[in-house]
Amino acid sequence: MSQPMSQTNPFLNFPYGAIQMECDAKDLIVEGEIPAALNGTLYRAGPNPRFAPRGDYHFFAGDGMVHAFHLQDGKADYNNRWVRTAKWKLEDREGRNVLNAMNPFDCEPEYSDFVLTDRDGLANTAIVWHGGRLLVMEEGHRPFELDPQTLESVGSWDFRGKLNTAMTAHPKIDPATGEMVFFAYMASAPFSADVMLHKVNAQGILTESTFIPTPYSSMVHDFVITENYIVIPIMPITGSLERAMEGGPPFAWEPDKGVHVAVLPRHGGTTDDVRWVEMPLCFVFHFMNAFDRDGVISVDACQFKAAPLFPTANGEPTGKVAPFLNRWTIDMNAATPTGSFARIDEFESEFPQCDPRHTGRAYRHGWYASPDGQLKSPLSENDNFYNVIGHYDHETKREDRYSCGQSLVSEPIFVPASDTAAEGEGHVLAVVTSFETRTSSLFIFNALDVSAGPVAKVHLSHRVPAGFHGGWRPG
Ligand SMILES: [Fe+2]
Repeated sequence: MSQPMSQTNPFLNFPYGAIQMECDAKDLIVEGEIPAALNGTLYRAGPNPRFAPRGDYHFFAGDGMVHAFHLQDGKADYNNRWVRTAKWKLEDREGRNVLNAMNPFDCEPEYSDFVLTDRDGLANTAIVWHGGRLLVMEEGHRPFELDPQTLESVGSWDFRGKLNTAMTAHPKIDPATGEMVFFAYMASAPFSADVMLHKVNAQGILTESTFIPTPYSSMVHDFVITENYIVIPIMPITGSLERAMEGGPPFAWEPDKGVHVAVLPRHGGTTDDVRWVEMPLCFVFHFMNAFDRDGVISVDACQFKAAPLFPTANGEPTGKVAPFLNRWTIDMNAATPTGSFARIDEFESEFPQCDPRHTGRAYRHGWYASPDGQLKSPLSENDNFYNVIGHYDHETKREDRYSCGQSLVSEPIFVPASDTAAEGEGHVLAVVTSFETRTSSLFIFNALDVSAGPVAKVHLSHRVPAGFHGGWRPG
């Protein structure tokens, strides 16, 4: 018999808590009108523990569930499925949770070797459609392929045996060539101080892998590409097997280790071509975009002063920190390039996005999720849930924001109106969860007029638990 979930861990309760069902819902109720040309599928990925977790549950440690809104000719269908990872199948068979995904030392004794051989991980973080495959990604393991329509689990995908590392949840796709660039951290062994960079062509063939030793073992969540550079930030969320074996946190915030940014040529760069750029202390989960001009790299980051969600090496919390949009500048013409940053936006922002046709290129429009202070989080008195969809115009510096009131918003995903539409012409799609009805809806906004409110709301009769990232597959 399944055990009850903890009622004190906020990540096991509304609006994060797991839903215990999978369904297919046809022809959802639509308020307003779904734009006729908006054909395709919006996916959302997030943690959704199958069973009551062992010990202290971390938000990152839940089994992946994927939700899909299929839009066609103004109608919307929905389905959701757990990803059938090795851990999910094992625990489904046992009828209970036997592994703590965030701490390999906390598991049922007979599965103590599972973590050493597992290739699937949790498949709970992000989605990409590339090379004709729908991949759900975590970051400590390989990507996992799903059927794009039914969400049926196909299995772990290793690019026909060529991928011997994990894959970040934030690959970047070059809009001109369709090439997908991604990396894995701690690539050669658990807690190793290195990164492996991979390139996959538009057809989905893995063509190149580059090994990069790093100054220390670091958890690296996101990176950026430009036309001429690849930029991988090593920021001090450190990994340590020794610390974990002594009962300390496996991953911890160690500011004294500093920020070191690996910059290498986008094309033909080898291990020897990596240049290390020092940056003032900061922490970033997500980048909005980046571009280069005359050897000067600009990187836009939703930046924290310290890492949230991770303890210090002594196990102390890092305290309340909020992310704000900053622009990094790295002049590669200098004999010893250094990095600097400056804040460019007044509002707190996370889950940044740009028009994917401008990834790695000069760009004008970005979107993000943000709080307005009206929706309180149970995590701490100072925390606010994100209830605002924001649009930042880098040219006019103008803000365009819409508050969903007593509702939590997801990351907004931009979909262009057509392949030839101007930058920003199109829609942003976000999953919004009402604190009144405790159900979720897909909100569709005109991307350049977010403050006008959604042009369509597509309603579910249940909730999509607060999760991480989404993705779009054109119809
Ligand atoms: Fe992320």
